[in-house]
Amino acid sequence: MRKPISTRREIPFHYAKTEQEFTDDVYERYNELVTRQTALHLADELHGGYPFQDLLNYLLHWLPDGKGLTVADVGCSVGRLAGEVAGRHPDWSVHGIDLSYQMLRQANDYWVKGDRIPLNLTRYGFGLPTLSTIPLANLSFALARAEDLPFADASLDVLVNTFLIDRLLDPFAAFPEFHRVLRPGGRLITVTPLNFLTPDGWHAAHPPVKMFNHLRQSGWEILDWVDPLVLHEPMDKRGNAVTWACVAFVARK
Ligand SMILES: C[S@@+](CC[C@H](N)C(=O)[O-])C[C@H]1O[C@@H](n2cnc3c(N)ncnc32)[C@H](O)[C@@H]1O
Repeated sequence: MRKPISTRREIPFHYAKTEQEFTDDVYERYNELVTRQTALHLADELHGGYPFQDLLNYLLHWLPDGKGLTVADVGCSVGRLAGEVAGRHPDWSVHGIDLSYQMLRQANDYWVKGDRIPLNLTRYGFGLPTLSTIPLANLSFALARAEDLPFADASLDVLVNTFLIDRLLDPFAAFPEFHRVLRPGGRLITVTPLNFLTPDGWHAAHPPVKMFNHLRQSGWEILDWVDPLVLHEPMDKRGNAVTWACVAFVARK
């Protein structure tokens, strides 16, 4: 992994995020987005199970076998998927990458340091839970852009990204970088609701056959896809939820 340009409270920075970018980035808002991601991904007991279990099952099904593999989850937020992979494979090296320092700090405190995480979910009716887990030694988190990852060429066996590509201005922006860092034969596992931010995103990648054609033309082999993979993101104690109609696919370099 590349040497970071700086470190802030144990989080290595591979991108010089400006104060303006911190201010503009909704994913840096602790009380809104970080708390919501933590409630979704780390507070299973509030929901009677992990709300994205079907996504996790898809990921686990498509992880390759092998010893000493290197895996990255790009856009990992609070690190649930990275933690699941690291916990199941103590001999693998797992990296969580995100552009939000606040997400990464939460992920690092929970998964790497094993801190107890107090959460204020009173506005959703869930009260004030405290979350904790057993720390994992084979997991690390770093701040970087999906379009400029801190990994050497052909150094990863698996690259996971979920609910990421439709958050980028160009949904295809990160794929060349994913291709660069995966080893030949390495797997890209993507789950996305294709909930684009821009008309250009819709035009470029919807319906998903356009996305698959683009990826095939860029040298990827599509091994599998599921459409829709329906996921429900709980919003409150009453059971209100956002429904996501995702596309899940696996591509090989
Ligand atoms: C919608 S959340 C998805 C989080 C998680 N992967 C999931 O499945 O719920 C998008 C995440 O991607 C991160 N992100 C957005 N743009 C990014 C970029 N260019 N590079 C790396 N991470 C990015 C955000 O900070 C946020 O944590």
